[in-house]
Order: sequence, then C-alpha cells, then structure tokens
Amino acid sequence: MPEAGTRAGILGMGSYVPERVLTNRELEKMVNTTDQWIVERSGIRERRMAAPEQATSDLALEAARKALEDAKTGPEEIDLIITATNTPDSLFPAVACIVQDRLGARRAGAFDLLAGCTGFIYALSVAAQFITSGMYRRVLVIGAETLTRIVDWEDRNTCVLFGDGAGAAVVGPVPEGYGLIHTRLGSDGAGGPLLHMPAGGSRMPASRETVEDRLHFVRMNGREVFKFAVRACGDGSLEALEEAGLSVEDVDFLIPHQANIRIIEAAAKRLNMPMDRVLVNVDRFGNTSTASIPMALEEAVSLNKIKDGDNIVMTGFGAGLTWAVSIMRWYDYKKRELGIGN
Ligand SMILES: CC(C)(COP(=O)(O)OP(=O)(O)OC[C@H]1O[C@@H](n2cnc3c(N)ncnc32)[C@H](O)[C@@H]1OP(=O)(O)O)[C@@H](O)C(=O)NCCC(=O)NCCS
Repeated sequence: MPEAGTRAGILGMGSYVPERVLTNRELEKMVNTTDQWIVERSGIRERRMAAPEQATSDLALEAARKALEDAKTGPEEIDLIITATNTPDSLFPAVACIVQDRLGARRAGAFDLLAGCTGFIYALSVAAQFITSGMYRRVLVIGAETLTRIVDWEDRNTCVLFGDGAGAAVVGPVPEGYGLIHTRLGSDGAGGPLLHMPAGGSRMPASRETVEDRLHFVRMNGREVFKFAVRACGDGSLEALEEAGLSVEDVDFLIPHQANIRIIEAAAKRLNMPMDRVLVNVDRFGNTSTASIPMALEEAVSLNKIKDGDNIVMTGFGAGLTWAVSIMRWYDYKKRELGIGN
C-alpha cells in the first residue's frame, strides 16, 4: 500500500481506434453537407467507425490491454477500473465490469462514470483520490465511446462531428514533485437540455413513438454548446492555473477535449498559448468524447513529445453540462526507474 499523501500520476497509456475510416466525402452522400463546410466549421476531415460487431467494451478492452503492457502491469495488479463513457454496451451492466472480466483483473472493483465528454478528467480525479489516500496502487482509467451508434445520420448538425475510439491510462503513485497537481471539476446542470439524448431512460422509456420520433439520438444546440466550451476551456484553465499557483508560461502542453478546432483555437487564444503547444487530433478522429483527451495524450507520449517534468493542462467540457481542468507534472515512466511507493 502506498503512503497516504502520495501524488498520483500516469504510469502507462494505450489507445485504440477502429479500422473503418469515414470521410467527409462519404458524408456528402448521406446528408446535405460538404467537405468544405465540415473542415471550415469544425476542422474534422475524417473519423473512425466501430465495426458492426464492436461495442464500446471491445474498444475499451483494446486500449486497456495496451495501457497495461505500457505500464508493465499485469491484470491481477489492478485494484480498480473506471470507465468514462456515454455509450455503454447497454444501460447496464457497466462497461468497466465487462472489461474487468475480459482482462482477467480478478482483484479489481469496476464501475462506469457519466460526465459527458468531460468523463476522462472526472475519472482521473477519482482514481487519484484512491492513490493519494493510500487505498489503492493501480487504477485503470478508460475513456471509450461508440458515438456513431447514437448520432442521427439524418441530422447534419450532429452526425458529421462524432467518431469512435478509446484511450486508457494506468494511474498509480509517482515520485515527489510529479503527478496531478490540481483538478477543478465543474457542472452547470441547467444547461443539460443543450446536449442530451431525450429517450431511453426513466423519463422517457423506449417505445414505438420514441423510435419513430428519433428520440434515441444525440440532440444538440451547437451554438450554445460552442460558447460554453470556449468559456470552460479558456477561463476554466486560467482559473485552475491560478489556483495551482502557476501561470500560462509554466504550461508546456494544453490538451483540450477535441470537439471542434475553432473551440480549441479560441481557448488557446484566450490563454495566449501558441498552437504548437496545443495537442490536436480532431482532424483525424472527430469528437470521440471521453476518449479524445487520453487518445491525444497517448499519441504525444508515444511520439516523445512530452518530456519528463513538463506541465500539462487537460481541459474538457461536455454534456451535463460539465467541465473540468486537470494539471499534471509529467512523470516519464518510460525512462525512469519507478520511485518511492511504486
Ligand atoms: C455544430 C457547429 C460545428 C456548427 O457550426 P456553426 O458555425 O456554429 O454553425 P451554425 O450553428 O451557426 O450553423 C450555420 C448553418 O450551417 C448549417 N449546418 C449545420 N451543419 C451543417 C453541415 N454539416 N453541413 C452544412 N451546413 C450545416 C446550419 O443548419 C446553419 O444553417 P442555417 O443558418 O440555414 O440554419 C458548432 O456550433 C459547434 O461545433 N458547436 C459545438 C458542438 C460541440 O462541441 N459538441 C460537443 C460537445 S462535447
């Protein structure tokens, strides 16, 4: 058991996207849109689509296996699995329980966490509490989605934006001076109707009418969500940095939720942060919701872009409405011997 008060950090990462690429050109044949509109208004060029036989847990499992391998951690060492998702295989059981079984993580507790596209940061912060309290040593945090299953392919306002994917991180104790420095979690429940799926829950159970009225798909007020997102990412990051006693100059990389390049650029501008210090994958994967931040982080880590001691700021927003910021001093788990409490 690590000592209480130990900092939590990331000890291994993995990501997975399905093979099938859906291009803007293909979407032109499905709804009244153009490649030019999608690229100019969102920055998205293509996204991935799960194969018919793949559900969210299949994507989550692939990312989780890679993260465990990267962390040189066996499934039996995992104490807890948290999956952040908006698109579970079914309303219950939890995706995390399916992954726990298929990984063979016999000792692990498992649950899903629902916080819209902000879910990964929420889950990371929950994982960190178990590490810093000394209760657990290894928590597997996953963001996984099959959003192409819940978008309305007749609604051009939404169907061009989303994609499928998964990212995972093994969270554990890291040496003094590294790991999660500060987290800020936010919510504005009054904005719930701006981004939601109306039917399929206890308020409006599935019926012939709900299906005919296309109420089992994502409904979104894009303009309002856009404004909220820029505020959440930009102002939210500034506030969190101030609370942590850091300034924008101290930040090496900003990892925003990948929903729209214009949101990312506006947030970077608010922070006065040059785009070469902002991680972007929305062009290749669209909005993968809870998977977007771990996928972007995993890519930067595997390309050795992020160095030991770098300060990274992860910032997300999404349905709820929710938003969150997480500030982490990167521990280069690939190059260093594991330190105290590992
Ligand atoms: C959805 C979004 C891309 C729309 O971009 P926008 O510049 O705000 O566009 P508007 O909403 O002003 O719509 C402009 C026009 O384009 C049209 N349009 C919408 N989608 C289109 C598409 N795929 N192709 C062509 N035209 C489209 C709209 O119908 C509207 O037409 P109208 O003026 O005749 O009604 C943008 O608002 C956005 O990204 N919002 C945030 C969404 C988000 O991040 N959601 C997930 C949060 S986790």
